[in-house]
Amino acid sequence: MITKREFLKAGSAALALPFGMGLLLSHAADGVIELRAQAVEMPVTSGSSVASPLWLYNGETPGPEIRVRQGDRVRVRFFNDLKVPTSIHWHGIRIDNAMDGVPGLTQKPVLPGERFDYDFIVPDAGTFWYHAHFDGFQQVARGLYGALIVEESDAVFAPDREITLILDDWWIEQDGSFADGFEDYLQGKQGGRIGNVITINGESLDSSRTVKAGAWHRLRLINAANARIFHLDVSQLAGRLLALDGFAIEPREIDELVLAPAQRADFSFRLEAGQRTSVLDASGTLGKPNDNGGSTTVFCFEGDAAGTNPNNVEPTLRKAILPDPNLDKALRVPLLMQGGSLSSVQKAVYAGAIRTREQLNEEQQVWTFNGIANLPKEPLFSVPVGTSVIIEMQNKTGWQHPMHVHGHHFKVIKGNSSRPSDVWQDTVLVGRMSDLQIAFVADNPGKWLLHCHLLQHAVSGMRTWFEVTT
Ligand code: C2O
Ligand code: CU
Repeated sequence: MITKREFLKAGSAALALPFGMGLLLSHAADGVIELRAQAVEMPVTSGSSVASPLWLYNGETPGPEIRVRQGDRVRVRFFNDLKVPTSIHWHGIRIDNAMDGVPGLTQKPVLPGERFDYDFIVPDAGTFWYHAHFDGFQQVARGLYGALIVEESDAVFAPDREITLILDDWWIEQDGSFADGFEDYLQGKQGGRIGNVITINGESLDSSRTVKAGAWHRLRLINAANARIFHLDVSQLAGRLLALDGFAIEPREIDELVLAPAQRADFSFRLEAGQRTSVLDASGTLGKPNDNGGSTTVFCFEGDAAGTNPNNVEPTLRKAILPDPNLDKALRVPLLMQGGSLSSVQKAVYAGAIRTREQLNEEQQVWTFNGIANLPKEPLFSVPVGTSVIIEMQNKTGWQHPMHVHGHHFKVIKGNSSRPSDVWQDTVLVGRMSDLQIAFVADNPGKWLLHCHLLQHAVSGMRTWFEVTT
């Protein structure tokens, strides 16, 4: 068996980023980016020689990083080489609805052997990602995701001063197979599919990366895990938090970062020659405590020996200007979240009919929004474009839920989201047994999903949709 590193070396001739990812640029060749979903037997981490049955974009984990410019037209020619249907969702992009990649709502699934051309404009600069959105619970867990970086049109940072790290965890057996064959129903009633192998860009925990001493770096973090909420101690990073979910914020120093599934965070940092800095696990759950301070290192950086000061400046980002919702005139939409293990729900609507608790269990529909499991026929709400909307989430479950709105960014106006409240975000962690309100202007016409990004929760009930009409 060859290791993943050898496999990658043998395989692709893609342009290499410093940290192991292939790179696709929209201004390459004819401007069309080619992505293929493929089944590949390959180890999950570098250094391991046990292969897993992965499903990957262009045979890489993570999938190739797509880098485009703000305002660009992005054209992706997508081929499905898998034996199952799939689609691609461009997470966090305020995208044209027809290109949002949601089978059943915005497009037909891309069948085995078929092709779909995605073609859209990226209105905002920032750190985004793309992932499969058909049976996402399994397809994302098998590796169908990658970074989508939209550069500022006036960026001052060359790509080698940028680092994208995708965090993931994989639940695999000793022999490399995926645990439970994606059928563990009990786990889905609880915290979802939490893996036993953690990877940072396909490397294992504690891998060190050498960076240019004296230079300011922009670090982009993406949580692609199905269910794991990363708690990172970033106090040693000695940098500043620049953006959340792609959008610039007032830069600030923070000690701890909670990164729920699908969320992103950007930092600036700079190291002296030979200086080493580690980002640690603050949850105490990622591995065995080690000798250096007692806590597990998630990843670390080391300044190279160059010693010269490249004399660049700390990244500063321009804030995106999104319309602020009018809270007095907004449509208020209650969203009652129920279900999971220990739930008292006795009946709920599923696929148009009222079901008993037993029937719901059989169908593996164990979570509800407003008493409905999974996508209802009628939208949660339908509003003319330009309407301000407040969604009043009431989480009556014993679990946390990273709630994601498609096609829009929102602000949290009430409740604790473990993030500063004045920022635009597309995915918010709603605490167990707590209330949280988000507000946004529904200004993107079409049919949009609103779902839990704990992907097993989504597939077993936590999905609804809304409509913005013209
Ligand atoms: Cu990243 Cu519908 O999700
Ligand atoms: Cu959830």
